[in-house]
Amino acid sequence: MRVKDKHILLGVTGGIAAYKAVELLRLLKKAGADVTVIMTDNAQKFVGKTTFEVLSENQVLSDLYFDTESSVKHIDLATRADAAIIAPATANTIAKLAHGIADDALSTTLLAVTAPVMICPSMNTDMYQNIRVQRNLDILETDGWHILDPDAGVLACKTVGAGRLPEPWFIFDRVEAMLTPKDLTGKKVLVSAGPTVEAIDPVRFISNHSSGKMGYAIARAAEKRGGQVTLVSGPVALAPPVNVERIDVETCEQMADQMLANLESADIIIKVAAVADYKPLDPKTSKIKKQDNTKDLSIAMTENPDILKRIGQNKTSDQFLVGFAAETDDLEKNALLKMEKKNLDMIAANLVGSSDSGFKADTNKVKLFFRDGSSFDIPLIEKDKVADILIDHVIEKMG
Ligand code: CTP
Repeated sequence: MRVKDKHILLGVTGGIAAYKAVELLRLLKKAGADVTVIMTDNAQKFVGKTTFEVLSENQVLSDLYFDTESSVKHIDLATRADAAIIAPATANTIAKLAHGIADDALSTTLLAVTAPVMICPSMNTDMYQNIRVQRNLDILETDGWHILDPDAGVLACKTVGAGRLPEPWFIFDRVEAMLTPKDLTGKKVLVSAGPTVEAIDPVRFISNHSSGKMGYAIARAAEKRGGQVTLVSGPVALAPPVNVERIDVETCEQMADQMLANLESADIIIKVAAVADYKPLDPKTSKIKKQDNTKDLSIAMTENPDILKRIGQNKTSDQFLVGFAAETDDLEKNALLKMEKKNLDMIAANLVGSSDSGFKADTNKVKLFFRDGSSFDIPLIEKDKVADILIDHVIEKMG
């Protein structure tokens, strides 16, 4: 979303990881970015120019004097750029950039870029840890460029250690973060997501259809906006959001403990999780066996704590508390009642039960209600976008 319609320069230098830049380009294009690839001569020994040209739908810049339509194309590109990424970045290119050397299309163009720049070093571990390379990276970082640390693992040279280019989805995620205005800097955001699971016996449980997608989207959005995010998560099949502290829980009691333990330092609390209101009164330690003569079976249930209500009772006036209301009927009436009962500053109400909104969908249609009586309709859009709009409103209401 943040790279949509942005002009992005993707610099590719001569490392074995150059092939990953192809996938990164694909992700950027899919997200709606206009990407121009700049390749060094050595990069072209690893991946052909045509691949990048076809996928980017733009001419690849590799030679300042022979390839371009205009003699100052590199300056046009640099001026228009909203961001530049160099992935993979070799020690040689890093050294040139750190010292302002402009002897090829990439280093010359980068000298004229004033937009945010991300450098993704990738090389042998000893090279990466070499004091000169580290010094050059420090120079670039001090100058305000973003350095994405390489992953550790088995490298192409069979060395095991730091130096591997992170996966394209991760670089893409960090580029999005780089381009996101940091309006939550200094704020601690506590989010709960996913379902809770209450054991009946060692093999059976009571839970719900929550996928965790909405809560995870909120955690990701808050992190990208500079918030320090703690995510208390029930069991879900989602990748942990980057740079977010995730605390895994199963039951409502465990979720309550973790939410309350992290409550005091939180500025914003967003309780998205679908919590089981009741749990089996007497969970068995052995599997309940089928009784041949029993047609009906009842499981005695007992109430779980209402975590949100408890937070509402304990929160300070500086803390902003957001609840969710998953409803099948009377959306507005039920949501307003919950906001009142649980002492919330805002409630996000959504109808569950349809395939394009609610629990498992990637999209959601939400209505926000605020303590001051106002409300805001978010149309059916992707949960990532819902998350950002919801956070916009939190920030506005917090003043
Ligand atoms: N919630 C909670 N603890 C519970 C139940 C709900 O913290 N034991 C929170 C949810 O995380 C959500 C809000 O309360 O933010 C509303 O949850 P929802 O399931 O819609 O409503 P309930 O309060 O459980 O009421 P009901 O099931 O009757 O609709």
